[in-house]
Amino acid sequence: MSTLDLPWSEKYRPSSLSEVIGQKAVVEKLASFVKRGNFPSMIFAGTAGIGKTSCALAMAHDLYGEDISSAFRELNASDTRGIDVIRGTVKEFAKTISLAKVPIKIIFLDEADALTADAQHALRRTMEKYSEVTRFILSANYASKIIEPIQSRCVVFRFKQLGELEMKEYIERIAKGENLQIDEKAVNALIYVGDGDLRKISNTLQSAAMQGGRISEAQIYEIASRARPKEIASMLRYAVTGDFENARKELDSLMLGHGMSAEDILSQCYKEVQGLNVDERAKLKIVVELGEANFRVVEGANERIQLEAMLAGIALIAKGK
Ligand SMILES: Nc1ncnc2c1ncn2[C@@H]1O[C@H](COP(=O)(O)OP(=O)(O)OP(=O)(O)O)[C@@H](O)[C@H]1O
Ligand SMILES: [Mg+2]
Repeated sequence: MSTLDLPWSEKYRPSSLSEVIGQKAVVEKLASFVKRGNFPSMIFAGTAGIGKTSCALAMAHDLYGEDISSAFRELNASDTRGIDVIRGTVKEFAKTISLAKVPIKIIFLDEADALTADAQHALRRTMEKYSEVTRFILSANYASKIIEPIQSRCVVFRFKQLGELEMKEYIERIAKGENLQIDEKAVNALIYVGDGDLRKISNTLQSAAMQGGRISEAQIYEIASRARPKEIASMLRYAVTGDFENARKELDSLMLGHGMSAEDILSQCYKEVQGLNVDERAKLKIVVELGEANFRVVEGANERIQLEAMLAGIALIAKGK
């Protein structure tokens, strides 16, 4: 694959801790580990596209330099399915002699929270057995899904969702590197759509750039067709004025017309609450409604019913006044 074809998210992956955007507390700590040449096993917890894999790789680059391939191994828990695969790979890897100056090797286990509890217990034993030569970095969306005995043997780093300025810095980095022409409004749209996830931002930006010409706001929303800030805001406005019928029509268009998932709709509703023209108390009640619907949807309840119930709940808040 030529660099031309490389996804920008990979092309612009930080190759050193000094290039990581944000995550200041984590980066400082990791840099001190690099300096010392020693470090504990770690859990990197946080949402998608905020630098968990990037920080592990950047740290490994800073630690091992050219010898990275003999000292750093990346595994994906969901590919490897059984713990046997992990055990086998870990054993093989631990046995090999690292060429790197730093004697400790790193195994980066992505999506560690996808492992069953049994697999995690087996992993814990493996971690202990090879602890002299190998440290683990486990990446997970939720640290709470990692069993306690592993958590207590690791330093847990909680990665933060990236803020507006940080997203902007990343967009500017790519825009400069690729010589892009991009409207100020398109940058803001990217920030809205990206919502703290830099991978989503680079993918959206790369798709827009492939269409050629100056990148516009409309283009960004079109590509990230899941984001429909105007329709979402309008649906909520109907609901808060007690107009359930029209709110429901907007919901239909979002779910059926644009194919949005309930989770996406709910997280975008959440972003729009602050801008609604209702008092603070009503906003609080709306957030409670969103939270309950979100919980039920994640638990597997019927999406359509939950979203309608949420809109009905909001309409009732309006009528209750
Ligand atoms: N903090 C950051 N600084 C600079 N670039 C970043 C940062 N976070 C993410 N990126 C960019 O986004 C891409 C994806 O990030 P990364 O793979 O680190 O996400 P992740 O947190 O591991 O997410 P996932 O949970 O989906 O694995 C990177 O290749 C890089 O281009
Ligand atoms: Mg990752």
